[in-house]
Amino acid sequence: MINNKERVPKIGVMDSGMGGLSVLRELLDLPYSANFLYYGDLAHAPYGEKKTSEVFELTHNVCNVFLKEEVDAILLACNTATSASASKLREELSVPVFGMEPAIKPALLAHPGEKIALLATSVTHREEKLQELKSELGASERVIHLNCDGLATLVDHGKWEEAKLLLKNILKIPQGQGIRALVLGCTHYVFLKNEIKDLYPEAILHDGNQGTVRHLVRSLHLDEKEGQPNYTLFFSSDTNREKAEDLASLLLQKGSGSHPHNK
Ligand code: DGL
Repeated sequence: MINNKERVPKIGVMDSGMGGLSVLRELLDLPYSANFLYYGDLAHAPYGEKKTSEVFELTHNVCNVFLKEEVDAILLACNTATSASASKLREELSVPVFGMEPAIKPALLAHPGEKIALLATSVTHREEKLQELKSELGASERVIHLNCDGLATLVDHGKWEEAKLLLKNILKIPQGQGIRALVLGCTHYVFLKNEIKDLYPEAILHDGNQGTVRHLVRSLHLDEKEGQPNYTLFFSSDTNREKAEDLASLLLQKGSGSHPHNK
């Protein structure tokens, strides 16, 4: 238990860019007192198309920034960073490290006997963490992998129309196979729920954000109080930092799980 009456816990939340804001937004919806420090590593985005060792290094560097800020816990609000780094970082760091898991378990349970489709980055698809999860669930034959490289970058730049065009191609595969359950295995894609629903109205979407938030709040025994949690945003990119901050403020606005432009 890290919380006590004297001190509000400080929690570092990281992602390669804007995606982790979809998780932060859910954390900010809760009446818990906590200070969140968000780090979007836009200078090195996207993570999902890099070598695993590079993603580990980058994630490690962000965690070191958090440790200098004396955080009490770290949330890797990025499936890619989690796949590449979470287990090693848990061994190495002195604070609890939380991560994301693609919501394939709830999706499989909600659609017994059906195939499901997982939208994720190259790193998440190929890493051991996902292979282990699938074999634990005995679901290797039921998960269709949809590689969505390129999509996170479009979200980072607020290019919603281009993202929709790319999605149109990606979604042809599950649509052709009559798959209804789509798992959003990248925190960036949560901002594209409206586009996905437009392109594929029969789709039922699953993401891991709520599960992660519940797990973090429970594990850290966050203290429920009246009032708002606080947050500070930081983006590593020198170019366009202001633009990134403007987009981040928009993305943090309350909504139905999509970006606010097309509501
Ligand atoms: N948001 C990250 C995830 O959840 C991926 C984005 C990237 O490729 O950098 O996987």
